[in-house]
Amino acid sequence: MAMSSTSCCSGLLAKRSAAFAPSPIQQLSLLAQRCNAINLAEGFPDFPAPLEVKEAAIAAIQAEFNQYRHVQGVCEKVAEAFENTHGVKVDPKTQVTICCGQSEAMAASVFAVVESGDEVVLLDPAYETYEACVILAGGIPRYVALDPPHWSLDVKKLENAFGPCTKAIIVNSPHNPTGKVFSHYELGAIAALCCKYDCLAITDEVYEHITFEESKHISLASFPGMQQRTIVTSSLSKTFSVTGWRVGWAIAPAVINAAIQNIHVKLTDSAPAPFQEAALVALQSSPSFYVQLQQEYKERRDFVCNMLIQAGFSNFLKPQGSFFVFAQLPDKCPLNDVDYVAELIKEAGVAIVPGCGFFHQKNWTTMPAIQDHPASADKLHMSEQGLDMAAISGSGVYLERFVRVAFCKDMVTLMAADAAIKKHSARLNSPSA
Ligand SMILES: Cc1ncc(COP(=O)(O)O)c(C=O)c1O
Repeated sequence: MAMSSTSCCSGLLAKRSAAFAPSPIQQLSLLAQRCNAINLAEGFPDFPAPLEVKEAAIAAIQAEFNQYRHVQGVCEKVAEAFENTHGVKVDPKTQVTICCGQSEAMAASVFAVVESGDEVVLLDPAYETYEACVILAGGIPRYVALDPPHWSLDVKKLENAFGPCTKAIIVNSPHNPTGKVFSHYELGAIAALCCKYDCLAITDEVYEHITFEESKHISLASFPGMQQRTIVTSSLSKTFSVTGWRVGWAIAPAVINAAIQNIHVKLTDSAPAPFQEAALVALQSSPSFYVQLQQEYKERRDFVCNMLIQAGFSNFLKPQGSFFVFAQLPDKCPLNDVDYVAELIKEAGVAIVPGCGFFHQKNWTTMPAIQDHPASADKLHMSEQGLDMAAISGSGVYLERFVRVAFCKDMVTLMAADAAIKKHSARLNSPSA
């Protein structure tokens, strides 16, 4: 028997489903698959996970760890690592919940604390899942735009978003899509507002170990007065190149953690058992593992930044962390982000992501004007140093003028993308084109 028709079923949908239509990103992913494009779009590594971590997972399956499982040892390792890195004492018995990735940890955290009518401050641009969690919880997102090109946080604008209905702010640092790492000053300002307005911070720290040069990840939980009002979420996904294993965690004050734990059990019961066993090994990695991780990502970041400069991009923050570059399309490019990405997939066989999916406010279309700086021999240096906004005039920057390029890929993949983009540019610039 055929399934009932779409029009019949649509009347049965809950209203909230309408908020979750497919984005251009998903449609372009399909195009990229059809064109067999080199994938610099999605934020997952295409190189192997650490051998000893994989061996631990295999051994766990061989040892029949096949059933629902809550591995207390993982909570202990998470607490230990957090205390060693951030100097914040965490009780593994009452303050840690192991979830199915950061995604579930974020959902369970938001469901635990946000109720109908609560406002939640979000920074724009932002990773897509936070808004969905807030809306599903009945909360109201209040966006604060970060200021390009460094995506700095204007503290006055931030304070304007706080009020008596604010329940929480969600902060992701290192940041997807921009590659920004929030400074001590910015985090201090967020902490002060959380204390002043008596609200929570929910952090997404999945890129905690991927930072470059002098940029260091600081957790909001380590600021005075913040441990009792911060829910930290993170996961194995990015650090250990295992996005499909679905092991993450929330660290929260005991009362809140108990609620997160209960919601997690109702949603998914437990994270995959063999991969929790592997987490025990991953979370005991030596300091040299993290040093090498940063070195390898720095090499990839530099390669991709140079690739973009040669392709005519100039206005972008050289990533301080995460594994994404968020670049403004060259001024002379007549296409918007979605059309540029579609053309790059079809003509060069390289997939990246249009930036529009990360912006959530309509008024981004009236962002301050930025134009390419007067000719400079070292454009990357210029974008690192910052553009003098006051001295810059010219065309406006619109939300459809950014693309995100992932560099969590093998150097062979990155070199193939570079060659394909160069070939495409040469064709475009040839007299017969
Ligand atoms: C900022 C950010 N948070 C969370 C996630 C998802 O993390 P997990 O795989 O642990 O659910 C991603 C994945 O792209 C991400 O970029």
